Parts: sequence; structure tokens; C-alpha cells
Amino acid sequence: MLAGTHSQRSFKRVNEIIKANGNQKSALITILQEVQEEYRYLPEEILTYIATVMGISPSKVFGVATFYENFSLEPKGKYVIKVCDGTACHVRKSRDILKALRKKLELKEGQNTTKDLLFTLETVSCLGACGLAPVMVINDKVYGKMTPDAVEKVIDDIIESEGIVNDQR
Ligand code: FES
Repeated sequence: MLAGTHSQRSFKRVNEIIKANGNQKSALITILQEVQEEYRYLPEEILTYIATVMGISPSKVFGVATFYENFSLEPKGKYVIKVCDGTACHVRKSRDILKALRKKLELKEGQNTTKDLLFTLETVSCLGACGLAPVMVINDKVYGKMTPDAVEKVIDDIIESEGIVNDQR
């Protein structure tokens, strides 16, 4: 549940974003992109708020937010891991990388984000670095020639850099 102060603060930032872009309908996608950058996803109450402020029907705003793959209506982790499952990566066993990550992050069937909102795991069809297959990207950092052991180490390093003790997660 959002505390009053949290949601007021959220709307303050949303107001700034709308103000900076103008509330013309043509600015909607840019506004949604900036809001998503801020919150890492598009919270439902913020989409409704944007619709009200911009004078657009909520269904239109939700329609845009669900149409584009880059928008997410679900909370995402601080670290978004994209594992490539394009042809070059697939033949170099990207599925094993994915399996190792799901196990390491303790993700259950159908779950892509860890409960502590630290990691989100996604697959993509080609990251454009096929020479480094199998490849994964975490936020903007590219990791090439991955092995199941190497991904475990990458995750451990991130957890360590966050100062989290493993068994507290
Ligand atoms: S197929 Fe994986 S980077 Fe191209």
C-alpha cells in the first residue's frame, strides 16, 4: 500500500515530468518513458493520474503503456538481466545460463523478479553481440561468453556490492 506521503512525492515528480514535456497528447510516450525511468515501471495509479492531468482517457494511456514492449506495468528489479536467446547464443547454450540464473535468484515458475526487487530476469532475441555468445546484459553492462559458473559469480558480486548478506534475501 502506498503511504500518503509516498504517493504525493510520486505525483510531484510526475507533475514535473509532465510540465517539462507539455501536456499535449503527442508527448505521452516521452512522458511515460521518463516516468518509467524514474520508477523502473509504470504504477497503475500514476497512469490514471497522467490520464487525468493530460485530459486523455485512462484506457488510451493504458493502451499505449501495454502496447510497447519497453513499458512495464509490473515493478522491476534494480538490476534488469537480459539473457540473449537469439540463434548464436542459443546454440552456445544460453538456456543453461538462464537455468543457472533462475536457480541462483530462486525464481519460481512464472516469476521474473526477485521478492526483494533487486533482480528482474528477461530474455531477448539478439543483443547484437553474437561474437560474444552466449551474452547477457545487466542494466547497461554487457557480459560475454557466459557460463553457468560465471553468471553465479556475477550475481554474487552484485549482491556483495549491495552489501546484502546472501541468506537474508
Ligand atoms: S544471438 Fe545473442 S547476441 Fe546475437
